[in-house]
Amino acid sequence: PSTLLAPSILSADLMHLGEALKTAEAAGADWIHCDIMDGNFVPNITFGPIVVQAIANNTTMVVDTHLMIADPDRYIEEFVKAGSHQVTVHQETCPHLHRTVQFIKSLGAKAGVSVNPATPVSTLEEILPDLDLVLIMSVNPGFGGQKFIPASIEKIKKLDAMRRKLNPELVIAVDGGITEENAEAVVLAGADALIAGTAFFRAADPAAAARKIKSASR
Ligand code: DX5
Ligand code: ZN
Repeated sequence: PSTLLAPSILSADLMHLGEALKTAEAAGADWIHCDIMDGNFVPNITFGPIVVQAIANNTTMVVDTHLMIADPDRYIEEFVKAGSHQVTVHQETCPHLHRTVQFIKSLGAKAGVSVNPATPVSTLEEILPDLDLVLIMSVNPGFGGQKFIPASIEKIKKLDAMRRKLNPELVIAVDGGITEENAEAVVLAGADALIAGTAFFRAADPAAAARKIKSASR
């Protein structure tokens, strides 16, 4: 199967959200990645459920919501009601991760967990069978346009080995600093889905960038 591409709306021209969605759809993007930041867990503030709802109401792509917020349990239901098909929370923000994951699934959404660069994937061993996706952060979350952290490759390989044993259906997504150049190595390591902000929306030719990234294969 070809690599799933998830452009991050954060890097789009926010004055023209509708056009950004059309550009992503026309380029064959699979998911639209919504980066939610609260100025607390991460040092930046983005947007909330009303913007996710506007996006969900105007696209055929899977709405993939990445919650970089403290105490995500307080907001998960709102983001699902807004139209998120997938909700990803951070391991670092969830002391009761099992409960949070079951809560997301009880609302009818797919459940994802993300890990920061310094958080080992081994912390996900017990929850892995319950997850639909894991989002490996290949930058420290907070901003688009950062450089891919090379050590992420080994981490993706580790997670790939874990899922073979514990949950072969698990989708491995990778977020941060993805480019046309490194996409192949990231997919070879085990990634199924690549998040791309800058590399897609800031490309001279987003459709060509999408083709290049989606053609990365194992
Ligand atoms: C980082 C966000 C990413 C980011 C991706 O905090 O979670 O989704 O916007 O942007 P690029 O692809 O530019 O690193
Ligand atoms: Zn993200």
